[in-house]
Amino acid sequence: MSASSGHTTDNPTMPRASHLSGDNRFKVLNATMKRYQYQADALIEVLHKAQELFGFLDPDLLIYIAHSLKLPPSRVYGVATFYHFFSLKPQGEHTCAVCLGTACYVRGAAALLSSIEDEIGVKSGETTPDGQLSLVTARCLGACGIAPVVVFDEMVAGHQTFETVLEHLKGWRTYGTR
Ligand code: FES
Repeated sequence: MSASSGHTTDNPTMPRASHLSGDNRFKVLNATMKRYQYQADALIEVLHKAQELFGFLDPDLLIYIAHSLKLPPSRVYGVATFYHFFSLKPQGEHTCAVCLGTACYVRGAAALLSSIEDEIGVKSGETTPDGQLSLVTARCLGACGIAPVVVFDEMVAGHQTFETVLEHLKGWRTYGTR
């Protein structure tokens, strides 16, 4: 797509491309950037909104944001790759985000993540081959008092164990489908 128009692309690897013409999500994204007066300081908020709208941040989208905020694409790409919350790959139907912030880490989040990876057969940052589940990690989610924290789609769950995580994954019918 053109970075300035946000409309078309012929790249078949871009799953959202066919929806770009008249895509209302760009209107929402533009409104968000406008609310922040296109200030470069709002980059993280804008990236959050973009990921919420599109599910992941593909290169076209990053360029579009860079252009809109008048930032070098390398800076936008750098921020998007620095924060674990952001995903540059397509997301699965559901997302399981394991917090690896300090409080969660000291309460065993790394071991929890590792067990989940073993169980579902994909690493953090990847999506199951059936496209059902993306496993990601996050920095502190601001819920340290209930560490370790896992976010199932939009739902923040505290005091998580391997068993409670598996229960959620089974509820999504993703677990055991591979
Ligand atoms: S470290 Fe996980 S919520 Fe703060």
